[in-house]
Amino acid sequence: MSKTFAVIGDPIDHSLSPNIHSAAFRELNLDCSYIAYRIPKGELKDGIEGLKKIKIDGFNVTIPHKVEMMKYLDKMDESCSLIGAVNTVTNDHGVLKGYNTDMDGFLDPFNKKKLRINEKKILLLGAGGAARAIVAAFAKKNAKQITIANRTLEKANNLAQFSKTIGLDANGIDISNVDKLEGYDIIVNATSIGLKNESSPISLDSIKPNTIVYDIVYMPMNTDFLKTAKEKGATIIYGYEMLLGQAVRAFEIWHGVEAPYNAMKKALLGGV
Ligand code: ATR
Repeated sequence: MSKTFAVIGDPIDHSLSPNIHSAAFRELNLDCSYIAYRIPKGELKDGIEGLKKIKIDGFNVTIPHKVEMMKYLDKMDESCSLIGAVNTVTNDHGVLKGYNTDMDGFLDPFNKKKLRINEKKILLLGAGGAARAIVAAFAKKNAKQITIANRTLEKANNLAQFSKTIGLDANGIDISNVDKLEGYDIIVNATSIGLKNESSPISLDSIKPNTIVYDIVYMPMNTDFLKTAKEKGATIIYGYEMLLGQAVRAFEIWHGVEAPYNAMKKALLGGV
């Protein structure tokens, strides 16, 4: 029987998830479809009822519903309850179970490139929902320490507190006070700066060679942050690598078979 999947969020029309999952269905000859479904903020409850009525088999959750969706779950896996946000849901005859594949999706490029995290010092820019999954990822991989820099200092401090409760030493600072970067091994942009082609959120002049610089913004692919880091000789990780990592894991949760990584990557990069 044919199965239906969706991504819910707002805005949703530029989501690349339908392309990635549809390419995987074609590659494996699965009788499935994947749609983008706009649910505005404040309308999540009705939206979920609608999805249950059409017997949706599973869905992804994106901005702005990743945290609020927690309320409508009947069950959740460990990563979801640890992070307090959900990006993947299964529907088993009306029973909704939540997962968070952002954490392992974020780690995927480190594993693929054999880049170590344990004992590394981290600078994380941003303290929103995505940053929370990233802190959990660094804690899981035994990073040494994380500095969380954010425009709203209070949110940086709250996230630093969360980090400490899950075993990763942390401090919060104002993003405008970021200056010397020599002490950091890995620098991650988890703010939305770059989406509109803005220049890098911080100056990267003082990074040491071989620093890993990772941007979770995937559109445009070459953000100013990554371009500048590359010029400085840094090791770059692109936002699309995380997007692909979380999609592969969501696919495997829903379908129980290995995801066709290369077909999904090709759909994302258009054969680049
Ligand atoms: P997501 O779920 O993608 O993490 P979010 O929770 O809205 O989205 O978080 C967006 C992040 O980008 C926040 O850290 C935000 O900073 P504030 O907490 O101060 O709002 C950051 N951000 C967005 N626009 C910014 C800007 N123009 N300058 C600095 N930081 C910005």
